[in-house]
Amino acid sequence: MVPKILIIDDEEHMCWALDRAMRQEGYQTSVAYRGQEGLEKIKEDSPSLVILDLRLPDMDGLEVLKKAKELSPKLPVIMLTAHGTIETAIEAMKIGAADYITKPFDLDELKLVIKQNLLLSQLETEVTFLRSELTGKYGNMVGQSKIMQEIIALIERVAKSNASVLITGESGTGKEVAAVAIHQNSPRCNAPFIPVNCAALPEQLLESELFGHERGAFTGATSRKLGRFELADKGTIFLDEIAEMSLNMQAKLLRVLQEKSFERVGGTETLSVDVRVIAATNRQLDEAIKKGQFREDLFYRLNVVNIHLPPLRERKEDIPLLAKHFLSKIGHTYQVEKISPEAMELLCSYHWPGNIRELQNVIERAAIICRSNTILPEHLPRDLYSPAKPSSSIIIDIPDEGISLENLEKELILKALEKSGGNQTKAAQLLGITRSALLYRSQKYGII
Ligand SMILES: Nc1ncnc2c1ncn2[C@@H]1O[C@H](COP(=O)(O)OP(=O)(O)OP(=O)(O)O)[C@@H](O)[C@H]1O
Ligand SMILES: [Mg+2]
Repeated sequence: MVPKILIIDDEEHMCWALDRAMRQEGYQTSVAYRGQEGLEKIKEDSPSLVILDLRLPDMDGLEVLKKAKELSPKLPVIMLTAHGTIETAIEAMKIGAADYITKPFDLDELKLVIKQNLLLSQLETEVTFLRSELTGKYGNMVGQSKIMQEIIALIERVAKSNASVLITGESGTGKEVAAVAIHQNSPRCNAPFIPVNCAALPEQLLESELFGHERGAFTGATSRKLGRFELADKGTIFLDEIAEMSLNMQAKLLRVLQEKSFERVGGTETLSVDVRVIAATNRQLDEAIKKGQFREDLFYRLNVVNIHLPPLRERKEDIPLLAKHFLSKIGHTYQVEKISPEAMELLCSYHWPGNIRELQNVIERAAIICRSNTILPEHLPRDLYSPAKPSSSIIIDIPDEGISLENLEKELILKALEKSGGNQTKAAQLLGITRSALLYRSQKYGII
């Protein structure tokens, strides 16, 4: 999109010169000779930037500026002022002018100021968009179960502090969602939230990713690179999959947490940062500590507050709410609005090994393949029809020396008899055979 520049100035030759210069720069332009006319053009044409003369015949330039900022608060306005009116120019900056240039001015200087301000406003728009995306994606933690309500309350409380937080929970339980929620509810919410996946990079790359590097620090380091800790200054760093970090990197991270300072790779300057740390893992860190894979001192540094997100199967009452939430987010794209009671029952009885992420995928897939406005059981994956109940599963380990089918059958009969408390009829039922078939086989194997 070509930026549109509106010039508001009563001097005709000035407008003409500016207009030509701006067109030469490749911008679209429009011109207004009066303040009121300028404001109307702001309303109608929504320009990307305004050049505004401070002295206009019908209105005070400051007045025009005020009204322009009311109409479009983010619109960059550059004031043109005559010599000797610097104080008014400063007044204009206070009201919200992006910059001012004193007449007579150097055209190149004006062009540069315009270019910088257009870039700035484009970046602002992008940041606003990305922040709203983030809020949309992670903003609301859905959950009405008691445990989720407690977690949400804890997140709100902990957000106000600067304490390090360790978020634990199975894959897909919403650890990243919780981390973003902490950041967004914290006083740091207008500063960056910088995630780092510690499992995604080999040690050396992770080090320069976290702490940055100087030019020439290693082969391929052709320029200085800022690390994630530096980028997260005043904000939050989210160290995802922390258990995958090597012991060597853990030692380096510990130092940063203790001293709040570090050096870039290949650098000597010590940098201090103000960063809040949130870490997450789906592994049992206490076991990793016992095995010597994770530093205990680092664990205590990170685990000032622990937030554990329970698997979805332990908060089944959240399933309907989450399912409706995901459907409402994407349903309109596919004109799907409802989930039938039978389908909802299936959703609620499934054990969701992939947790909320899996539920979200199932709903999205169902909405895509569904041809009416209601999700029915047939739109759900087969796994949901035959939920593998962990209690009924059989774990068979074939020993190294092998096992014959007959021995296996004998084992199964023994297990069935054990489970039925020696009741042959029940044992036969458990195995899906008649009582006489059970007796025949039991005798064959010398069980009874
Ligand atoms: N409470 C919640 N409300 C709404 N959506 C949620 C909630 N928790 C998780 N989700 C959604 O579920 C998906 C998985 O969440 P997230 O990525 O935070 O999980 P995770 O625990 O970090 O998983 P992994 O360990 O695999 O990285 C995301 O798409 C997220 O938007
Ligand atoms: Mg995650």
